[in-house]
Amino acid sequence: MTRRDLLGDLLIGAAAVSLTALSPRVVFAQAASLQAANLICKPIPSSGEMIPVIGLGTARRYEEIRFDAELPPLRDTLQKFKEFGATVIDISPTYGTAEDVVGRILDEQKARPGLFLATKVSISGREAGVAQIEASFKRLRTDRIDLIAVHNLRDTETHLATLRALKQAGRIRYVGCTTSFDNQYTAFEAMMRRETLDFIQVDYALDNRNAAERIIPLAKDRGMAVMINLPFGRSRLFAAVQGKALPEWAAEFDCKSWAQFFLKYLVAHEAVTCAVPGMARAEYVIDNIGAAQGRLPDGALRKRMETFIDGR
Ligand SMILES: NC(=O)c1ccc[n+]([C@@H]2O[C@H](COP(=O)([O-])OP(=O)(O)OC[C@H]3O[C@@H](n4cnc5c(N)ncnc54)[C@H](OP(=O)(O)O)[C@@H]3O)[C@@H](O)[C@H]2O)c1
Repeated sequence: MTRRDLLGDLLIGAAAVSLTALSPRVVFAQAASLQAANLICKPIPSSGEMIPVIGLGTARRYEEIRFDAELPPLRDTLQKFKEFGATVIDISPTYGTAEDVVGRILDEQKARPGLFLATKVSISGREAGVAQIEASFKRLRTDRIDLIAVHNLRDTETHLATLRALKQAGRIRYVGCTTSFDNQYTAFEAMMRRETLDFIQVDYALDNRNAAERIIPLAKDRGMAVMINLPFGRSRLFAAVQGKALPEWAAEFDCKSWAQFFLKYLVAHEAVTCAVPGMARAEYVIDNIGAAQGRLPDGALRKRMETFIDGR
């Protein structure tokens, strides 16, 4: 964004203040909140609620926080995420300290309102599941969790009964199931045909497209929102393009980085609702949220992206 564009946007934003009177910090804050209004959102099919197409994953980098000294980068990450108007945070009770860390930081920053907290139930047995879910409410320091999903098909029917009762009681808003393993896809598909769900979560990346063959189209047919995990295949995709320049045609869909290239490919799929890249650095938020802004690639460009990555 040039200075002229920025000033233009600020004026469109009707800041009835003389710009010369604004400090650089104020100008930046106003620009950030104007950007926040521009995030691409998609509807959750079961409710029509709109959510931004880029969320945040907390596996690994939030899992082993032992000392307060490790918290500042995570605080900055979550603060920046909220400043941009992003909302979806994906957690799990199986991610070590992640629920506790996210709950603590959101509490400190008074940031819970407006965020979309998605956690999981990942244990066998009804009572153990209920206990795990109650512990998630405590660790996340909230009385309402937006989405709880059964993790990796673990005791699915038992937990879906619990989750539906919680939804009925208004303690959670959406129910889902996750997987990130090809060898679960057949059972996952059967479960999707059998159950009524608000969300599925599945692994999908530019170099890992199996979920687009049957799972994602089935979600569309069944009216289920699709949240994408492992959108970079951990860091596999970045390694695949190391030392390579972004192709010029990436500008055709307002893509300025490899991270945006990989994420825009995913969220441009008509049945994908959002992706949750793992982020524990504020600069990753700035970069990845860029994938929820500007144009997205059309079908022909998505094919070109596949050919590019397959031929690397
Ligand atoms: N079955 C399930 O339910 C399931 C399974 C797996 C994952 N998940 C969810 O999906 C989320 C995403 O998976 P993931 O975090 O394992 O993998 P990922 O999103 O594919 O990759 C995340 C890694 O990519 C790197 N990265 C992120 N943004 C970047 C940027 N702009 N530029 C350069 N590098 C960047 C970071 O590596 P560094 O940190 O090393 O810099 C980050 O740890 C998880 O956090 C979790 O919430 C769910």
